[in-house]
Amino acid sequence: MSSANVEKQIAVADPKAQYLSYREEIDSAIARVLNSGWYILGKEVEEFERRFAGFVGAESCFGVANGTDAIALALRACGVFPGDEVITVSHSAVATVAAIEQIGAIPVFADIEEETMGLDPRTLPALFNCRTKAVVAVHIYGQPARIEEIATLCEESQIKLVEDCAQAHGARIGSAMVGSFGDAAAFSFYPTKNLGAIGDGGAVVTSNSEIAEQLRLLRQYGWRERYISSVAGINSRLDELQAAVLNVKLPHLEADNERRRAVAERYNRCLAPAVKGPKLSPEHRHAMHLYVLRTPRRDELKRFLQERGIQSALHYPSPIHKQPAYEGRIKGGDNLPVTEKIYSEILSLPMYPELTAGDVQRVCDALISWCSLND
Ligand SMILES: Cc1ncc(COP(=O)(O)O)c(C=O)c1O
Repeated sequence: MSSANVEKQIAVADPKAQYLSYREEIDSAIARVLNSGWYILGKEVEEFERRFAGFVGAESCFGVANGTDAIALALRACGVFPGDEVITVSHSAVATVAAIEQIGAIPVFADIEEETMGLDPRTLPALFNCRTKAVVAVHIYGQPARIEEIATLCEESQIKLVEDCAQAHGARIGSAMVGSFGDAAAFSFYPTKNLGAIGDGGAVVTSNSEIAEQLRLLRQYGWRERYISSVAGINSRLDELQAAVLNVKLPHLEADNERRRAVAERYNRCLAPAVKGPKLSPEHRHAMHLYVLRTPRRDELKRFLQERGIQSALHYPSPIHKQPAYEGRIKGGDNLPVTEKIYSEILSLPMYPELTAGDVQRVCDALISWCSLND
């Protein structure tokens, strides 16, 4: 049996490793909630909302059921109605577009630019029209998009900006956190995210008091007072167990992100010039949710790693406009040259804060030997 066969598989993400890191604190937080007898929208959620708003640098935060609802509710709270157009990218989790369609709005695709792989602000003016009500900019993989330029263009045309920060907890530009640039921002706490719960969870942050008031109503049946609906809302609430776990993990988020970036720097140093790693700059601080490299020989590298017990993944196997549910029916989907170009080249390597020094070394050794064989 070769040594690769006896070595353990290195996963792309490992949410259980994070639970084990904070096990005592998490177990005691869960016991506290179970014993409290109060399980939905209570003290844990309130505390988390206060602390997470402070972390992002926003006035308010609303815990909701998941990141998809967070985008949908943010758009509704911004005044987006059925039939309105919302511009976003096809290079994202399907959730971004599902959220737009969930509220009856019409997604329109803009292309991305190569450096951040986020929405290219230069494409926006040609897409703006009188039906455009909002832009959803995604900080994909944890890399801040060109959000300042996007925010300026939106403001000039009185179009609302929602940031999709589902992959970017703690990413920042200078000293400003992503999530503080738009009218509202949506976060997911899916277990593998940089800040992950032990089930589904999400949040919307905003510093606009009118949007905040709408969010407060919309996430719980439109109630201003209990059992009286002022507007037609939905049920999308964060539960106390998830909030209690998030309260344990939030103080560790910055250190966890540092650890992710340190691993990414090591990977980057192992790459041959023909293989492009993510850009890591101190000014645009990548949250390194996913370490995604680019090589035209992506499938060969994937196989090479697999043979050495190293898992890798595709985020995503196909852009949204090429997926069966959306193909041929989303405006803008026929003009996305950069989005289409990157898809055959992207590969996500193992990335989570609990990767051991030995795991990182094995990935580095594999990258170095693949690069030397393929230079
Ligand atoms: C970019 C992006 N947006 C939105 C979402 C939706 O989050 P959730 O899975 O919590 O609904 C995700 C999570 O997968 C995501 O990665």
